[in-house]
Amino acid sequence: MSIHARDLRKYYTVGGEQVRALDGVSLDVEDGEFVTVTGASGSGKSTLMNILGCLDVPDSGEYILDGENVSGLSQNALSEIRGVKIGFIFQSFNLISGLTALENVELPLLYRRIPKKTRSMLALNALERVGLSDRALHRPSELSGGQQQRVAIARAIAAEPKIILADEPCGNLDPKSAADVLNVLGELSAGGKTVIMITHNEQTALSAKRLVRIAEGRILQ
Ligand SMILES: Nc1ncnc2c1ncn2[C@@H]1O[C@H](COP(=O)(O)OP(=O)(O)O)[C@@H](O)[C@H]1O
Ligand SMILES: [Mg+2]
Repeated sequence: MSIHARDLRKYYTVGGEQVRALDGVSLDVEDGEFVTVTGASGSGKSTLMNILGCLDVPDSGEYILDGENVSGLSQNALSEIRGVKIGFIFQSFNLISGLTALENVELPLLYRRIPKKTRSMLALNALERVGLSDRALHRPSELSGGQQQRVAIARAIAAEPKIILADEPCGNLDPKSAADVLNVLGELSAGGKTVIMITHNEQTALSAKRLVRIAEGRILQ
């Protein structure tokens, strides 16, 4: 699934001051690419990610996702596109503490009204792909940080989205767990998924296949 973003702008006014969160960003990502985005805190990484993930809309610019111009779509239409095409991974895992790993992974499938049997099958399959089949009945508090993030990845991929957006997925992890998570994301990309990952870790950035540096709302060339 390809991404073509042209001259995206997003400005905020805070206390009378204008903040240029995105100041004319253009980005093309081809099917199956693994793109790493890096930049200082406040440089606009999350704003860009949220727009690419149809969680937010730009003030101006054009965004073509999978051949469809999504720039002017309604919130409902964007939400539909998110549910089908995009899997999200965040720094703070965002798992529900009262549910098991399996139930957490099943949740987005439930929202998509996939029948129970198929749901369990897809969720177990996703847990297997992140190496956590044996933790399906554990609750988040019974898992390490790295395992929780892998459950979150399983949740993101269970419905087979074609694009994975990960905002600082290793931000809360120790180096070993971070390496595990990076490996899983690498495997997803090798399997044909488009992966866009944000990191502010310079070492991770330097080992990236394709690196996009962003500063003050602009992509550095
Ligand atoms: N909802 C918002 N309201 C006002 N300013 C915002 C909002 N979201 C982000 N910003 C500002 O936009 C800039 C970019 O933010 P962000 O995309 O979160 O950066 P990053 O993820 O690179 O740390 C920052 O200066 C931030 O303070
Ligand atoms: Mg951020």
